[in-house]
Amino acid sequence: MVGKLRALRSWRAAGGSERAEGGPGRPHPGWFIAMEGGDGAGKSTQLAAVADWLRGRGYAVVTTREPGATPLGSVLRNLVLHAEEHKLGARAEALLFAADRADHMETVVRPALERGAVVLTDRHVDSSVAYQSGGRGLAADEVAALSTFATEGVRPDLVVLLDLDPAVARARREERTGEADKLEAETAEFHERVRATFLARAKAEPERYLVLDANQAPRILTGAIQDRLDQLLPPTAEEVATAARRAAEIEAAVAREQEFRAAQAEAERARREAEEQASRVQQERELAERQAAEQERLRQAKERADASEAAERARAEREWADATRLSEDDKREAERQARERRAEAERERLKSPTPKSGRLEGSAAEQSERPEGPAPESEQLESAARESGRLEGSTAEQSERPESPAPESERLDSPAPQSEEES
Ligand code: TYD
Repeated sequence: MVGKLRALRSWRAAGGSERAEGGPGRPHPGWFIAMEGGDGAGKSTQLAAVADWLRGRGYAVVTTREPGATPLGSVLRNLVLHAEEHKLGARAEALLFAADRADHMETVVRPALERGAVVLTDRHVDSSVAYQSGGRGLAADEVAALSTFATEGVRPDLVVLLDLDPAVARARREERTGEADKLEAETAEFHERVRATFLARAKAEPERYLVLDANQAPRILTGAIQDRLDQLLPPTAEEVATAARRAAEIEAAVAREQEFRAAQAEAERARREAEEQASRVQQERELAERQAAEQERLRQAKERADASEAAERARAEREWADATRLSEDDKREAERQARERRAEAERERLKSPTPKSGRLEGSAAEQSERPEGPAPESEQLESAARESGRLEGSTAEQSERPESPAPESERLDSPAPQSEEES
């Protein structure tokens, strides 16, 4: 199958589809291939090999030859190549070959071409021009015109020219059994002119000729001819069907691949979407956790701040209470100390000797009857008041006394008497 597809590609690449059946310049659907060359170049061998190959690809193949492919041709061939009783001139020889060709074309080649077959002929018009013009010396254009008359203008699509040195060809011929025909028996110069004429015709129309060095191995020659036919011949129906089947398989494979890739892409998209969704959920959860942690932190901070504020308030209240209590204590202490100082002063004053000591002694006596210790404040105050009243009375008495400095206690507890002048 690969070989068939290769042939199809080769034919298309060579512009074969433009030469397709029924195309411009093609009077028939078949293909006409001529093998040409000197005697002993190996045409028959290559023709058989190529015919087998083409049949293997599915072509309808007709192998034939000139001269002698038809009953008439067979008679003419004997006349022209072997009849010793007739001495043929070059023109008669050319006409006999042309007669064989006309019969051959009419009864074998054209019908096969019209059926669409590939016709492989061993020798055709080029042989007439090479042998009867190049070899025998007839005018090339006259020989060619004679052939055109015989073929009605049908020309080979491809001429494969197996080119070989006539000396080598002669050596090959001599190895074979059988007698040489009239033309084979011609001189080396004759065969050199035949060779040169073939090559000149090929050179003049290279697109229609395949010139091969016939010294190469037969399989190499066959391969070269196959390559050229791959480009020339359209694919067979079997090849077209195979190619169509293969193209459909490739198309289906491409479609399957595209479906597979699309499914893969869809699966990948879905996977990515799921991943993104999971990531979003995770982020939201983390955000919620951070927010909850922050709220908890704030709640704890507020709790600590409230506790701290309460403690501060309690401490301030305690300090206030302490301060208040201390000030009352100080006040009480100050009052106590003031009382003590007054009591002390009083005691000091009472200890001091005065003229009214009798009364004071009496008082002292009274005091001595009391249990020891400081007198209650009320008593002290009362005592001080009484004493003050007595002191006022004694002041009057003092004014009658001769002037002398008053005892210190008097001076302290009573206002100093104003001088005579002041009063
Ligand atoms: P043939 O026995 O067919 O041998 P081969 O083709 O293998 O060489 O010989 C045919 C001979 O006829 C050959 O020598 C060439 C000659 N010939 C012409 O001279 N003119 C032609 O037009 C043709 C067809 C053949």
